Amino acid sequence: MRQTTEQNMINAFGGESMANMRYRHFAVQADKDNFPNVTRLFKAIAGETLEVEEMYPTYIATAKFQGERTALRSFQWSYDTEKMHKAFFEKAREAVPAGRDAALGVVQVCEVCGYTLEGEAPEVCPVCNAKKERFTAYP
Ligand SMILES: [Fe+2]
Repeated sequence: MRQTTEQNMINAFGGESMANMRYRHFAVQADKDNFPNVTRLFKAIAGETLEVEEMYPTYIATAKFQGERTALRSFQWSYDTEKMHKAFFEKAREAVPAGRDAALGVVQVCEVCGYTLEGEAPEVCPVCNAKKERFTAYP
């Protein structure tokens, strides 16, 4: 693997690990504040605006340029799933400052790629093609 893409993989792993810790903490606080839907959001997903707007698009372009197909697939999955996560976080960001819990149905997470949606799990994950059984529901 080329050095830049290898470093991007390391950065992505570090960033996602730190985000995961933060969201666990946020979930505990949202639970204390009695926002059960926001609690579920933070328990179910991980993602950030920076990752959607800057990090993954840059990593994807670099991996394409360097011909790193496996890394490219991993970055593309992460990018596609983070876009969904960002939309969920925006729901929470609107609700909590107004003193409300987020309006939220059942959240489904693909355990292969992290793709997240609200409602019924699809027969096949639109990002990684995993079967419906690979989705975990957060009701
Ligand atoms: Fe998936």
